[in-house]
Order: sequence, then C-alpha cells, then structure tokens
Amino acid sequence: MIRWGGLRREPFRIFFPLGICFSLLGVSHWLFYAIGVTHTYSGFYHATIQVGSYMACFVFGFLLTALPRFASAPPATTTELLTIIGLFMVQLLCVSWGRWIFAELCFIGLLVMLAIFAGRRFAGRSSSVGPPTEFVWILVSLLFGVSGTALLILGQLGVLGLWALAMGRPMVQQGFLLSIVMGVGGFMAPRLMGRGFPTVTPTLEEARRIRQRRTRLHMLAAVVLGSTFWMEQAGAMRVAYLVRALVVTAELAWTTQFYRPAKVADLYVRFVWISLWMIVAGLWLIVLVPAHRVALLHIVFLGGFSVMAFAVGTMVVLSHSGQAPLLRRPLWVLRLTGTMLAAALAFRLAADVLPHQFFALLGIAAACWIIAGMGWLMFVAPRLGQQPAADEFERLHAEAKQRLLNTTPVC
Ligand code: HEM
Repeated sequence: MIRWGGLRREPFRIFFPLGICFSLLGVSHWLFYAIGVTHTYSGFYHATIQVGSYMACFVFGFLLTALPRFASAPPATTTELLTIIGLFMVQLLCVSWGRWIFAELCFIGLLVMLAIFAGRRFAGRSSSVGPPTEFVWILVSLLFGVSGTALLILGQLGVLGLWALAMGRPMVQQGFLLSIVMGVGGFMAPRLMGRGFPTVTPTLEEARRIRQRRTRLHMLAAVVLGSTFWMEQAGAMRVAYLVRALVVTAELAWTTQFYRPAKVADLYVRFVWISLWMIVAGLWLIVLVPAHRVALLHIVFLGGFSVMAFAVGTMVVLSHSGQAPLLRRPLWVLRLTGTMLAAALAFRLAADVLPHQFFALLGIAAACWIIAGMGWLMFVAPRLGQQPAADEFERLHAEAKQRLLNTTPVC
C-alpha cells in the first residue's frame, strides 16, 4: 500500500480521481436539471467547476508529479500538497454556495502555489539540462489564469466594466487550458506519437541559440493568443477565433506535427492525436459558425481536453503502477471512454440544433459523460495504490527521461 511519502512523490494519485469526482459534479448539474431533481441551473457554476476544479486537478496532478522529476528536484512537501488540496476543496464549497469571488480567489491561490512550486524546483534543480522550451507555455497558462480571474473579480465587484468579464472568462476557460496543451502536449505528444525529429548533437553555443529562438517564437505566439481575448471582448468574435485558431494550429503543427498520423499504434497515443485534431477543429468551426460558439467549444472541451486527460491519465497511472505493458493493448477503459465521450459530444452538439429538446439532450450528454468518468475511475482506482519495486521504476523512468531529453529538434 502506498504511503504519504509516495503520494508526495506522485500527487497524480490524489488529483486524478479528485478531478473526475469534481467533473461528475459539474456535469451532473445538467442531468439533474433535465430530470427535474433541481429547478435552476447555472452555466457559470458548470464552467467554473469544469475548468477550475476538474481540468485543473489533471493539470496539477500531472505537473506536481512530473516537474520535480524533470528538474531532478525534491517532490512536493506536505505543506504544499495540503495547501493545494485545501484550496481545491474551499474553491468547490465557494462555487457550490455561489460565492464566486471567494472561489476565484482560491483559483488564483492555486495558480500562485503552482508557480511557486515550479519556480522552486527549477531554481534549485540539480540537473544541468534546462526545461523544454515548450514549458514557457506553462508560465503563460498561469498568467492567463491569474489575470483572467483577476479581471473576473474586478468585473464582478464593479471596479471594471462589463468588458472585464467578457475578456476574463475566455482567458481563464480557454487560454489557461490551451496554453497547458501547447506547453505539456507540445512537448510530450510528438514523443508519444513517435515523431522522428531530425536531430543534431549541437555544441553548447548552438543549443543555446536554438533554445533562444524557440522560446522567442513561443512567446510571440503567446502574445498573439493573448490579444485574441481582447478582440473577443471588443465584439470582434469571428476575428478573435480566427486568430486564436491560427495561433493554436500553427503552434501545434510546429511542435507536434499533428497533421501526420501517429506512428505508434497504441490506443492511448491515437487518443492523444485525435484530441489535438479536436482542439484545432473546434476552434476553426467556431470561425465558420460563430452563432454556435458555446456548443462548438465542447469539441475542444470534450473531444480535446477530456480525451487528452483520459489518455495521458491512463498512461501515467499504468506506468506508475508497474503495468506499462498493458498500454500496448486496446484497453476496454479507453474504448468505453472514447465511445461515451463521442456520444456526449454528439448529444451536446445536437442540443443546439434541436432547441425544443435542449435540456433533455443536455441530460443525455451528461449521462454519457458520467458513464465515461465512472468507468475510468473504476479502472484506475485499484491501481492508484500500486507501485512497482522502487529501483525498477526509477530505472525505467531514468531511461524514458533520457530518451526524451536527448531529442533536440533542430528548428
Ligand atoms: C457532456 C457534458 C456537458 C454538457 C451537457 C455541457 C453543457 C454546457 C452548457 C449547456 C453550457 C452553456 C452554459 C451557459 O448557459 O452559460 C456549457 C458551457 C461550458 N462548458 Fe460544458 N458541458 C459538458 C461538458 C463540459 C466539459 C467536459 C467541459 C470542460 C472540460 C465543459 C466546459 C464548459 C465551459 C468552459 C463552458 C463555458 C463556455 C463559454 O460560455 O464560453 N463542459 N456547457
């Protein structure tokens, strides 16, 4: 059985299941309303839980586990971990009571904690290898998350006008997560998909130049992405989504070459590949049909972020429980979640085109999502407490890390 020290080293064991539980709450909101268990609904409640609790838990679980290993730095401390869990819980209570501003302050607290955590690990790292340049997007995601939430708070307090709400909301609900995908996904996805980069063994000076050039390009893309939230609040919806789609497509094409099929046939890798396509496709469809913006965003949320979370989550759980060989098989859990997420997305989209059945279809979509979430939880739950022998895991992990870091793209 895993001990507290093990949980500190691998916090995904806490945050992944917690994220699914949060999401069951956020999504069941529509099911309960559809079947008459509740008589009011709040889109803001749903959106806040889905992004600030469910998706954020996956982000935290992944980064709190991976960053110390990347930096060869110490794992999360008890204080860090308990503070973060505490903030997630208080945030949920505040959202449930409609105390939006307190919930938003908790979310800012969470992002600040993550920034401090990452800063400390990389400042005190014992490894000579710098973080991948794509990780500049993690910093950008924290900036979008904090400034978007601050805009929401100032808008709700009446300190700033309605424009602050209109700009803050997509900054948090899209900017924060899109940036995480471009940072973590931009680095991991091509390696999982078996992309053969043209590699060089650069001199130190060349390596420094390549890193600087790549970092500058990522930062330029981040500034342009940021400007799209300004355009959106100014009412230039179509232009905003056009530029957003262009930036995300160009960035993911550059880092992941998603336009080429994955070379690795494992189902979870296929899911990662599909999720990249769904993110790009969702954004472009909004450019074509802006009237259905919110429904089409669910192609990004369900087909993109959720499929990626389940795929990467399955990979992390199985590799850290000593069952990595299972990943080569077409796992029932991936088939189930894939089918149910596709069905949830289809019903969510159908709700927009069949307005008379709007809430009934939302309820069915929510039920499909709940089956996917519960199925995944049942699959991972018994494995969350399992660990391979310590030396065996460290050996495999060191090998995998070396393989990743030895690959230096030349452009
Ligand atoms: C299948 C289950 C889902 C259903 C039925 C559903 C339904 C809805 C509905 C009806 C809205 C509009 C709310 C309003 O009136 O403001 C909405 C908005 C939203 N949903 Fe979902 N949703 C589902 C899953 C998800 C998931 C998995 C995510 C995130 C990963 C998500 C994130 C959001 C966000 C961020 C918004 C706000 C979008 C905006 O207004 O810009 N939803 N959802």
